[in-house]
Amino acid sequence: MQEITQDTVQLALDEAVSQVRRNLPLFTYRCQNHSSVKNFYPPCDNTQWTCGFWPGEVCLAWQHTKDPVFLHAASILAESFLHRIENKIEVDHHDMGFLYTPSCVSLYKLDGNERAKRAALLAADQLLTRFQEKGSFLQAWGAMDEKENYRFIIDCLMNLPLLYWASEVTGDERYRTIALRHTDTCLKHSFREDGSTFHTFFMDPENGGPLRGETCQGYRADSFWARGQAWALYGLALSYRYTRDERCLSQLSKSAAFFLSRLPHDLIPYWDLIFTEGDEPRDSSSASIAACGFLEMADLLDDTQADLYRSWAKKLMQSLYASYRVTDPSYSNGLVLHGTYSKKSPYNTCTPEGVDECVSWGDYFYMEALMRLSGSWSTFW
Ligand code: GLY
Repeated sequence: MQEITQDTVQLALDEAVSQVRRNLPLFTYRCQNHSSVKNFYPPCDNTQWTCGFWPGEVCLAWQHTKDPVFLHAASILAESFLHRIENKIEVDHHDMGFLYTPSCVSLYKLDGNERAKRAALLAADQLLTRFQEKGSFLQAWGAMDEKENYRFIIDCLMNLPLLYWASEVTGDERYRTIALRHTDTCLKHSFREDGSTFHTFFMDPENGGPLRGETCQGYRADSFWARGQAWALYGLALSYRYTRDERCLSQLSKSAAFFLSRLPHDLIPYWDLIFTEGDEPRDSSSASIAACGFLEMADLLDDTQADLYRSWAKKLMQSLYASYRVTDPSYSNGLVLHGTYSKKSPYNTCTPEGVDECVSWGDYFYMEALMRLSGSWSTFW
């Protein structure tokens, strides 16, 4: 696979920004559904865990163009996030980072928006309420303390930058301490010897000890949900940036090698890495997330290793651009086709949704990776 060139990066960004611009009328006062339906996102209320990604794209469009129309839309969307957290609407879960980092931390960092800052700090406080002392982890879903919900998931590494940021802006170490404790538990239990990951991991509510790894959205408990592996790559890279914990780095190189060893010819993963050929749906979003993780790592490593990760990121992005991007707005209002949110298997527990569709985080991380490659990125995470 060729690496994406700088010219193509600029072209891809311009195309993405045009699509974001076309979408503003539909998604300034409403949010974008987690996934498309027949390649078109319907609008939705600000109630899903995924609602932060569309405002993130709007912020990236503003960062790229400095066109005030994007800043205006991002500010309106941020109000909806302030309303959501002030009124505690669908926030009893750990996804505060996914929600509030691309939508509000972004806007605060880019434009000093104080209401966005307030929303993101309230979200960080909300995330702290998910911490379980017994077992030392942030509980992902469901009522706190229920045995069947006493677990964390690999995705949560991406929620932690919200806590590190909250400590930085408030000077309150509590947020950082909880993030570090969760990371420690995750490093101990979420990874298998070969570098692959468990999607979810149960702890014992009686004594806080480790119980077992399981899956929700992967094919089977012992398989390798592609997006979980991608969340791990980017999450570890971000964790290393904030902690300089060498365990993050060594786990990252093992987990990256595993991810890369399970990719099909065009480098875009199937929805579970147990599949390496055949007709199963792809999850293009995993490729964008992994590309961001590799680029984050490249900024933190010495030159030789950095070049390797940067090269993989460029190859993933070339494949996405060449064969997965939306080229015709009458075909889709998304940016990247062939994502998979949740595919039912005989062995998993998920609700089937968004199979072989655009997914909002896939679009967001595609744009973020392009911005990183363009050299004009300053981090939201
Ligand atoms: N964090 C849930 C997902 O990636 O589908």
